[in-house]
Amino acid sequence: MRELRGGSRARLRWRRHLRGTRPGRTPQPNTDGRCLRSEPTDGRRGQDHGGAASPETGRTHVFVYEDDPDLIAVVERRGYVRNTERASDHLVYDIGDTPSPELPDGYRLFSMADECDVDKRREIFGRSFNHEDPREWPSRFAYEELMRAPDYRPELDLVLASDDDTYAACCIGWYDERNRVAHLEPLGTHPDHRGQGLASVVLLEAIRRLEDLGATYMPMTGGFDPFYKAFGFRKLRTCYAWERTPDGST
Ligand SMILES: CC(C)(COP(=O)(O)OP(=O)(O)OC[C@H]1O[C@@H](n2cnc3c(N)ncnc32)[C@H](O)[C@@H]1OP(=O)(O)O)[C@@H](O)C(=O)NCCC(=O)NCCS
Repeated sequence: MRELRGGSRARLRWRRHLRGTRPGRTPQPNTDGRCLRSEPTDGRRGQDHGGAASPETGRTHVFVYEDDPDLIAVVERRGYVRNTERASDHLVYDIGDTPSPELPDGYRLFSMADECDVDKRREIFGRSFNHEDPREWPSRFAYEELMRAPDYRPELDLVLASDDDTYAACCIGWYDERNRVAHLEPLGTHPDHRGQGLASVVLLEAIRRLEDLGATYMPMTGGFDPFYKAFGFRKLRTCYAWERTPDGST
């Protein structure tokens, strides 16, 4: 059970993770539960599942895997229409015998357990995501809150810095110990340092550390697919955005 804003509760079911022959589990919203099954009755038009309508399109969206007939039936009944142009692949990386990455000349790799400069760490996050004001986004408060998350591990919060101590690439690994699943969020490279394999280096090191903890695979949906596919992730299925306008028109 998970408590949602306002005190209501959603049930989660544990279901097999579709990853070929090896078993695994991933939490999914329980489509038998009231949270997704019930029709909207509270007048919160333009909202669904906690998501507000986009200011640009005026539409609310829900991402649904193509092979989830239960959830597809629910969103269809609620007036959503599939946008085939807004899709993301569900990828997976099988973890095993991960080598140590080879560091490019002029760079060093460390974690927030080694050096904890929150201001530089959040700035490389903002810069790598091309944020217009990376010194302010994410805020120090936001990053410190992230570091307080119960499953945050500073040794999985990785940074590649150049010799002049510019932070050049970063990623955070997360470990779901119960299911032995690795997660990654976020990962990025400073625009001035792209195309040199830096993101691949931090990702490989994150995976190596996650393997040491016991992780057997890393799923990925909604990332930059060309990078992950080049790294070695394989496609399992597609996830589509289902959309509707607040008044129910499409
Ligand atoms: C995507 C991103 C992390 C790549 O960083 P990078 O350090 O340049 O990546 P790498 O040099 O390790 O790239 C490895 C491979 O990924 C693929 N790749 C990387 N960027 C790519 C791009 N823009 N288009 C297509 N393929 C790309 C290439 O195959 C590349 O190998 P190659 O250079 O030999 O062709 C970086 O562009 C970035 O930070 N983007 C903004 C944030 C983001 O999208 N993060 C990932 C989503 S969570």
